[in-house]
Amino acid sequence: MRYPEEVIEEVRMRNDIVDVISGYVKLQRKGSNYFGLCPFHNEKSPSFSVSPGKQMYYCFGCGAGGNVITFIMEYENYSFTEALNLLAERAGVALPKQEYSPEARAQEDLKKNLLEINKLAANYFYYQLKHPQGKAGYDYLKNRQLTDDTIRHFGLGFANKTSDDLYRFLKDKGYPDSLLKETGLVTIEERGAHDKFWNRVMFPILDVNNRVIGFGGRVMGDGTPKYLNSPETRLFDKSRNLFGLNYARTSREKYMLICEGYMDVIAMHQAGFTNSVASLGTAFTSQHASLLKRYTDQVVLTYDSDGAGVKAALRAIPILKDVGMSVKVLNMRPYKDPDEFIKNLGADAFRQRIEEAKNSFLFEIDVLKGQYDMEDPEQKTRFYQETARKLLEFPEALERDNYIQAVSREHFIPYEDLKRLVNQLGSRLGSGPAAAGRRDYEEKSQAKRSPKKDKDEGNRQSQRLLLTWLIENPGLFDRIQGIITADDFVEPLYHQVAQMVFQGHEENALNPAGILNHFINDEEQYREVAALFNASLKESLSNEEQKKAFSETVMKVKKNSLDAASRHAGSIEELQRIIQAQAALRSLHISLDEGIN
Ligand code: GTP
Ligand code: MN
Repeated sequence: MRYPEEVIEEVRMRNDIVDVISGYVKLQRKGSNYFGLCPFHNEKSPSFSVSPGKQMYYCFGCGAGGNVITFIMEYENYSFTEALNLLAERAGVALPKQEYSPEARAQEDLKKNLLEINKLAANYFYYQLKHPQGKAGYDYLKNRQLTDDTIRHFGLGFANKTSDDLYRFLKDKGYPDSLLKETGLVTIEERGAHDKFWNRVMFPILDVNNRVIGFGGRVMGDGTPKYLNSPETRLFDKSRNLFGLNYARTSREKYMLICEGYMDVIAMHQAGFTNSVASLGTAFTSQHASLLKRYTDQVVLTYDSDGAGVKAALRAIPILKDVGMSVKVLNMRPYKDPDEFIKNLGADAFRQRIEEAKNSFLFEIDVLKGQYDMEDPEQKTRFYQETARKLLEFPEALERDNYIQAVSREHFIPYEDLKRLVNQLGSRLGSGPAAAGRRDYEEKSQAKRSPKKDKDEGNRQSQRLLLTWLIENPGLFDRIQGIITADDFVEPLYHQVAQMVFQGHEENALNPAGILNHFINDEEQYREVAALFNASLKESLSNEEQKKAFSETVMKVKKNSLDAASRHAGSIEELQRIIQAQAALRSLHISLDEGIN
């Protein structure tokens, strides 16, 4: 679905960013900007800035940034269209009716209807639970020590013993069978229609926007299956939703707790751990990890203490690490899961366990150790070797050493011995066939730190700084007149942005938040562009230093652009022109020193 650019820009302009963000974040004016606590990461002192001039926000802590539309997308976890709709409505802008293809329209309607039916069903189940016909369910939940508040908070319900009452209820509302089938709540066969869930306590599953997308139902005793879940539908994708995330995402803790079950999440929330979520009876996926990464970069696994739980943790750890999470594992013993733990030892003891949660690497080593008979010298040696091999996976010497220390301390292996073993194994692998992959890896990680890469990043930083300065201080365009043009921004994305910035300046319509609209369909890009408009030198500089920094930055951008041009020069003449320009640049140095006003 695409809206014309003018429409998007109209909606953006009619929603003042300070106004909108003030509705979510407490802002305080400081100079020409507003500051507040960043809603996208946990912090104690405000590094989240909103610029009325640029109509952009930026967090100097976590790097989140954008315009009013991306703010709503990030904060509400909305799609672009959803955010645009919200803002259009807020400002009273009528969006043009979209030209849907008949299929797209049908899909959209189907989704809307399914959401509506799910919501009705959730209300229906809740109603049953609260009335005499639902007493068995209510008693069951009370017996599991859930309070009325918790039952309401999670909208828990009850599916009656009658095997088609939900079906009849929905039918009475006028929904056709064809639609009801799609909800996964009923099965319709020749012999009649049946509810999927009956005689169970019901757990509605909400997405991050609090819409009911599916259900889990539990038997009230020992029957099987213990839990029955909605099938995947148009709405319900199990690998992309986490139970409890609608609440957990607003928790102020910097980490999240991941557990296995509905009841665990509910028990933890009831005990005050509102930062817990569960994957829905399915294995933890990389989509789950990316979803969580929007809200946190630290997780504590609170999986069951049995074999299945350990296995699930071992599987989840690399998936979480892959998206850049720091992972810890909580020791639940002697209890099976968070629900039982909290019931028996209480919230304080659980909090204590969170504090003691184990670094995921050290957890993996513990599990490894369990596979060897440490009384047997041969097996013990194998454990040491396997440990050394795992330690070698840390490419950074310093980090590796920290882990060698930690492992040697925990498992009473003399540090020097373990270190020698790791080094021996490293050099053996270094010449053996198995080392190819590792060498490749090391080369890559060395390349990351090479002087050339540092210089490239330095050049990019100069281009970012210069763009930020030009936007914040359009008077500077005069100073660089005849020296810098949009073409001097050689990084492709920066070049594209610089062209819009220079053109905007020429037309007296410089509009950074509007420029950002062009990149809104690519999250990576808009983040980068947002950062581009909000580059800053870490230190706050005196006036003198600012002048110097500005002139140095201009020189650096120009020099880099000339260097790039000379590398690509097609002819001797062109090269000579570039060399002349390079010489001219050196003598120019002084005249720029008048710097920023
Ligand atoms: P309680 O016994 O109610 O405390 O549940 P639990 O959370 O301790 O259950 P368990 O550890 O056995 O299972 C964890 C999660 O796996 C549950 O919350 C369900 O989402 C899922 N699950 C458990 N049993 C079944 C089952 O029989 N079928 C399906 N599809 N999912 C299940
Ligand atoms: Mn349990």
